[in-house]
Amino acid sequence: MQFHVTSGAPSALSAGALVVPVFADGRLDGAAQAADSELGGAIADVLASGEIAGKIGEVVLVHASGQSFKRVLVVGLGKREKFDIAGLAAYAGAAVRYLGKRKVTSLAIALPLEIGTHANRAAAFVAEGALAGTIDSTTYRTEPEKPILIDTVAIVATAGAHEFDRAAIESGIAHGAILGEAVNLARILALTPANDMTPKHLEAKAGEIAKATGLKFHALDEAQMLAKGMGSILGVSRGSDEEARMIVLEYIGDPSSSEKLALVGKGLTFDTGGISIKPAQDMHEMKYDMCGGAGVLAAMSAIGQIKPKVNVIGIVPASENMPGSRAMKPGDILRAMNGKTIEVINTDAEGRLILADALCYARELGATKIVDAATLTGAIVVALGHSATGTMSNDDAFCESFLDVAKTTTEKYWHLPLFDEFSTTVKSEIADLRNSTGRAAGSLTAAAFLKAFVGETPWIHLDIAGTAYTDNETASLAKGPTGYPVRAFVALVEAMAEQPAHARNGSTPVAV
Ligand code: BES
Ligand code: MN
Ligand code: ZN
Repeated sequence: MQFHVTSGAPSALSAGALVVPVFADGRLDGAAQAADSELGGAIADVLASGEIAGKIGEVVLVHASGQSFKRVLVVGLGKREKFDIAGLAAYAGAAVRYLGKRKVTSLAIALPLEIGTHANRAAAFVAEGALAGTIDSTTYRTEPEKPILIDTVAIVATAGAHEFDRAAIESGIAHGAILGEAVNLARILALTPANDMTPKHLEAKAGEIAKATGLKFHALDEAQMLAKGMGSILGVSRGSDEEARMIVLEYIGDPSSSEKLALVGKGLTFDTGGISIKPAQDMHEMKYDMCGGAGVLAAMSAIGQIKPKVNVIGIVPASENMPGSRAMKPGDILRAMNGKTIEVINTDAEGRLILADALCYARELGATKIVDAATLTGAIVVALGHSATGTMSNDDAFCESFLDVAKTTTEKYWHLPLFDEFSTTVKSEIADLRNSTGRAAGSLTAAAFLKAFVGETPWIHLDIAGTAYTDNETASLAKGPTGYPVRAFVALVEAMAEQPAHARNGSTPVAV
């Protein structure tokens, strides 16, 4: 998909379709009004007929025979007073999905006047959403259903009498395209079924990303992990014939700084539950148990291209969780890299086991701040549904600044408490820790378990089990993996790069 900026009245645009926004109040302005007068009031007629009310995700197609733009797609943007620039990702995504499935190959997308002076951010969301709209989950079909064929997307800088800043739109496109490609990379990796997506395959993908974007790359095999004392991930991996890997990508954007952010993602390429085996119902979805890891690799790919002035390391513990004859058993005791012993109560609580060693390794590699993302607990879906990612931390200031940054993206995060008593709950009678407790506060006790491996390092844990993939197709996004947490990861890294160095080095209370 190629993006460019264009300007001028609708009559000067040649495209398979012109995309214009309408709000729920039905008042036409900017590009929508210009297109409407070009068409002799056809858009106003459609609105008056009630065929479209301007709700988010609503689309209606108006044919424009005789015009250089052959059709107008009217897309709802919801209530004008609630307009949020991030909503333009869904606006562009809905247009791409609707038109792309109807053999349209080129679009001109108009921006609403409501973006004000934020043409850069607006264009970034349009590019990100347009790219995200192109993915379908039918990639393994011999004939994928109605592929999206759009190859050109022009963002229209003219809205009625108003001209947006073309240079701002251009730089927004460049940024949004990198992010959209990264989001799609994470989604494609996650979609890949576990017979193809093994730890070694994920390692190979990380190597490709490193090569393409100039990142440093290494991966520990099982012998190397054993030498480092990573008995926790090795315990999980024992039940599988596929070898585990500890995958690392590194980006050095500020060699003068000793600050280093670690992004850690659960890369469990298939979770059967192990000996504490899961029920068959929905087990196939556990190919998505590496969404956190995919998100880390994809975010690192974007960071390697954006080149912010900050140091970032991406770590993905990758393993299968299988009930093979050598599998770890309930009651077994594992020893993690930091020496802590763990009683395995439930082999299905394996995410925290592979993350334990990854978090220790992050610290060995010099991380001064850590954010992990993991499809860690079914309990987070009980708490927050599929609406928001559970967010837990040992550092309120770091967490608040992350939440502020995440609000500038289309992803949703919700702060949950990590009370000290949960650290008591995860203690074991026979060992230092146990990997499973009762049903109460399951996501929070899981976070308390991870907390035992980060020491004093400021750390945020993101439980993406409810948000990393979806069963519900929307107008702008296919069902399947969503790309969480790529957008928030990249936004966090960029926000850290924008902080002056003295703030990053901790001499002020600014946490990112
Ligand atoms: N990968 C699962 C969590 C999960 C569940 C992700 C549903 C997405 C959808 C994780 O490894 C797991 O099995 N967690 C257990 C923990 C329990 C045994 C303490 C769970 O949530 O049931
Ligand atoms: Mn599990
Ligand atoms: Zn799991």
